[in-house]
Amino acid sequence: MDVPASELIRRAADAVAAQLGGLRPRVAIILGSGLGSLADAVQSAIRIPQSAIPGFPEPGVTGHKGELVAGTLEGVPVVVQNGRFHLYEGHPPDVAALPARVFHALGVATLILTNAAGGIRPTFRPGTLMLIADHINLMWKNPLIGPVASGDERFPDMSDPYDAGLRKIARAVARDARIPLEEGVYAGLLGPSYETPAEVRMLQRIGADAVGMSTVPEVIAARARGMHCLGFSTITNLAAGLSPTPLAHAEVLEVGKRVAGQLGTLIKGVLRQLG
Ligand code: HPA
Repeated sequence: MDVPASELIRRAADAVAAQLGGLRPRVAIILGSGLGSLADAVQSAIRIPQSAIPGFPEPGVTGHKGELVAGTLEGVPVVVQNGRFHLYEGHPPDVAALPARVFHALGVATLILTNAAGGIRPTFRPGTLMLIADHINLMWKNPLIGPVASGDERFPDMSDPYDAGLRKIARAVARDARIPLEEGVYAGLLGPSYETPAEVRMLQRIGADAVGMSTVPEVIAARARGMHCLGFSTITNLAAGLSPTPLAHAEVLEVGKRVAGQLGTLIKGVLRQLG
C-alpha cells in the first residue's frame, strides 16, 4: 500500500531534524541553477546530502549540488536547499514540493525561492533581478492533486502567493543597497525544451515578464500550509525569439553566477529585517 504523504513528510523531516542538533530553522531558502553560492555563506553549516533524506531523489542537473545546508545567515537560523527537484527531471509534483513541506514540518514559516529565468519584458537584460510579484502555472500540474496531505488545505487561496510584506522589505533592501530590482510575473513551464518564439509571444500577451521551469510547485505547496513566500528570478537570458542567439544552459549558469553576489546581498538584507 502507498505510504500517505503526511508519513513521507514526517520521515524526511525526522531524518533532517536528527542532523540539526537542536537548530530550529525559521527561514528556508531554495536556490536555483547557478545560484548556489549563498549556501557557502551559511555559518556553523551542517551539510546534509539529499540522498540521505528518505523520499528525496538525487538531483541531476548541472549547477545543482544536491544538499541541504543548515546553520545561520545574518543570525537567522536557516536551511538552504542547494539542488531543487524539477518536474522536467521526471519527478512528480509532490516530490518537487516535498522539501517545502518538510521545511514547514521543521517549523519554517518563511520560504525564499530563487530561480534562473528567461526575460520576456522587453526592458529585461541578462543579469536583471526580478522580484516575483505573482506567477502563472503553465505546468498543468499541481502538487496538491490527490488525497489531502494532513496539514494542507484542499483549496488554498492563491491571491497573495508572494507575500506583499516580504516584497516590501525586499524592495527597501534593494533601494538601500543600490541594487536594481524589477518586479514582475513569473510563468512556470514544464520544460525541459526552452520555449519557441511563438510561445514567448503568447507568454507576453498573457502577462508574463519572465519564464522558467521551477518554483511554482514549491510555492503552491507552501501556500497550502500557510507559509509566506518570497521569490527572486535572475534573468539569465532573453527568452527565445527576443535575441538573435540561441539559448544555452551554460549561459544560464554563467549569468546566474555573475549576479549571485547581488542576489545574496538582497536575501541577507531581508533576513536581517526578519531577525
Ligand atoms: N526559459 C525557461 N527557463 C529558463 C530560461 C528560459 O529562457 N532561462 C533560464 N531558465
